Amino acid sequence: MRTIDWIDGAVVLVDQTRLPGEEVYLRLDTVAELVEAIQRLRVRGAPAIGVAGALGVALAAKQYADPAELAAAVHLLETARPTAVNLARGVRRVAALLPSFDAALGEALRIRDEEIASSKAMARLGADLVEKLCGPDARLLTHCNTGGLATVVEGTALSVVFELYRRESLGGVIASETRPLLQGARLTTWELRRAGIAHRLAVDSAGPFLMARGEVDAVILGADRICANGDVVNKVGSYAHALGAKAAGIPFICVAPESTVDLSTPSGAEVEIEDRGSAEVAGTTAPEGTEAINPAFDVTPAHLVTAIVTDERVFSGRADGAPAG
Ligand code: MRU
Repeated sequence: MRTIDWIDGAVVLVDQTRLPGEEVYLRLDTVAELVEAIQRLRVRGAPAIGVAGALGVALAAKQYADPAELAAAVHLLETARPTAVNLARGVRRVAALLPSFDAALGEALRIRDEEIASSKAMARLGADLVEKLCGPDARLLTHCNTGGLATVVEGTALSVVFELYRRESLGGVIASETRPLLQGARLTTWELRRAGIAHRLAVDSAGPFLMARGEVDAVILGADRICANGDVVNKVGSYAHALGAKAAGIPFICVAPESTVDLSTPSGAEVEIEDRGSAEVAGTTAPEGTEAINPAFDVTPAHLVTAIVTDERVFSGRADGAPAG
């Protein structure tokens, strides 16, 4: 199963807002439908929205002949969500080939295929690293959803979990539930169950305590943007897990493709953190009219990150290779 693909002239994706209850595939024929799907998190996860944006430009080329309308559609795609660099990067890479539909679609499919290849490479490099740092049978804690649903197949951090399982070298997995939209509770558990991998679910705030109690050997999660200085921008709650890992003296490992590394962003301080508004947090639980603050992502400073695994390299510290200053 591919999370997102181009099938018979349209974008087809699994609607992640319906999981785990229902596995529903949507066929999207217009840019407006795809932008809605990205903003509502029907498709989500940095690499997956990079592919969505890329395929969206091909849709736009099919939909609009007028250059002004085409440019407006590209802009809507590029700005549908601000934090994960993959989206704007995927859109720009394909938009450079407009107005040719054939060239745009060819490039978008290349981006899809590159993400599939990246997942395989990250699985291998990440599993090697976990075995080196933790030995066999590592007990891992992961946050948000970093599986095939966040990419095209397999995933980023979760691809490492799958690979360790295949190697019979996985000691356990705790999925952090990931308030407020519960990507861990709804999606990571769904993927782990389908793969037949035993796992447990924990509330986000239990993470640091479970680490302190010796129940976790490493934290492993993804990224929406890795900055030049090595700061990791990822789903809100990642920073708390990093602090917990530091206090417990266990590795904090980030797994993300090179398409998530953004050397043009010096540090996390320059990243626009998406605020998804009050309703997702206050919802129906708080008294009516309660205002919530809802940053969808946070910044883990480079000094708390033990290692970053991409499809090409394993490193710590700066992503651009410059000397630490
Ligand atoms: O808001 P989301 O669900 O799109 O956020 C996704 C994450 O934060 C993931 O951890 C991240 O994209 C890395 S996994 C590929």
